[in-house]
Amino acid sequence: MKGLFITLEGGDGAGKSTQIRNIERFFAEKGLIVVHTREPGGTPISEKLRDILLDNHNSEMSPVTEMMIYAASRAQNVRENIIPALERGEVVICDRFVDSSVAYQAYGRGLGDMVSEVNKYATGGLSPDITFWLDIDPQAGRARAAKVGELDRLETEEMEFHYRVYEGYRKIAEGDPERVRRIDASESVDAIRDHIYECLEELCRSKGI
Ligand code: TYD
Repeated sequence: MKGLFITLEGGDGAGKSTQIRNIERFFAEKGLIVVHTREPGGTPISEKLRDILLDNHNSEMSPVTEMMIYAASRAQNVRENIIPALERGEVVICDRFVDSSVAYQAYGRGLGDMVSEVNKYATGGLSPDITFWLDIDPQAGRARAAKVGELDRLETEEMEFHYRVYEGYRKIAEGDPERVRRIDASESVDAIRDHIYECLEELCRSKGI
């Protein structure tokens, strides 16, 4: 595929939205078309699934149901949104992708290998060119996120859950260091941007952009 597929990952309050805007600016300045999407969500069907997933009233949802709805949202976003944009040669920036399912459902919920297996079908094998993991301690992230608004169904999980998710991200980054770049999210917004830009320059050079 011609385009570039970039994903951002990290726990609550890691500052992903600010850095997504910076990444959009980076590619816009190179004259490339940038598509910004998010998971769960990104298409009308996927946004409906997002509402189900994040609704605090759905406290009885089983972990397997949860994992499959995240995968269903992704299957639609990949086919309706992401692949067509990549085929047009555009840059797709996705706020969370499969790594979130591995961190939250495989590690956080304890579902293990089943999650990667199901997501092979959801993505049809599509994998990001680069992933930025904005690494923030769960406690610090929670304190930042809580300032912003009401907590959703996942955010209200106990702290141990968020530490399992964190451990999941650590393992993902360790296992795939070429794709997953760990960014220290406790640094200043500008320092984080500079680090991300360095990685993007390197990626662009390797792709001849
Ligand atoms: P969102 O408000 O998009 O979170 P954030 O602003 O932190 O990115 O909510 C998405 C929530 O869903 C978040 O708590 C992470 C969780 N999630 C999963 O558990 N599995 C997944 O596959 C994805 C994409 C998200």
